[in-house]
Amino acid sequence: MKISSKKIAVLVSGRGSNLQAIIDAKKFDVALVLSDKKSAKALERASEVNIPAFYVPKDNRNKKILSLLQEHDIEFVVLAGYLKKIGDNILEEFENRVINIHPSLLPKYGGKGMYGLKVHTAVIENNEKESGATVHYVTKVYDEGEIIVQQKIPVLNDDSPEKLAKRVLEIEHLILVQALEKVLRLSSSV
Ligand code: GRF
Repeated sequence: MKISSKKIAVLVSGRGSNLQAIIDAKKFDVALVLSDKKSAKALERASEVNIPAFYVPKDNRNKKILSLLQEHDIEFVVLAGYLKKIGDNILEEFENRVINIHPSLLPKYGGKGMYGLKVHTAVIENNEKESGATVHYVTKVYDEGEIIVQQKIPVLNDDSPEKLAKRVLEIEHLILVQALEKVLRLSSSV
């Protein structure tokens, strides 16, 4: 059963396994998927289940994204592996209604340039004993908004960045769904 009738847009750049987790949860009305990469597998995943899905080219991208969000009556935005900085125009229009998933225990290993395997490589190089994933509200500063859900996992002695990334990704899929439920419930009760 859907937990909210709010229409959600998911912004992606690649594989789309987090998008898939949101779709598979069957609790959310995913009404639009937008990608800054034409070849993103995430666009295929959306089209397979008839969700409108578009590649948004570079020119005036943030302006176009905002128009698409408005045309599709979107009320909530999820950044799920979206690698570009989202425009202030969108954040102003969707204040407290944009969330992001990040594969580390923020505020550690966040910020510009910290994405993908770079995060897990840094975690291992610094001999961290634990890592994890964080879902947070998006503000104008990279990876700095209020944390909604965070979950830890141990870093194992024989972890490579790839192995750690795989285990963190499993956690991401769980907490993204949890966080989305939480924010949608909160936003319907105010
Ligand atoms: C995830 O690790 C996410 O946290 C990060 O980029 C990766 C995207 O994976 N920002 P996917 O495209 O959802 O499979």
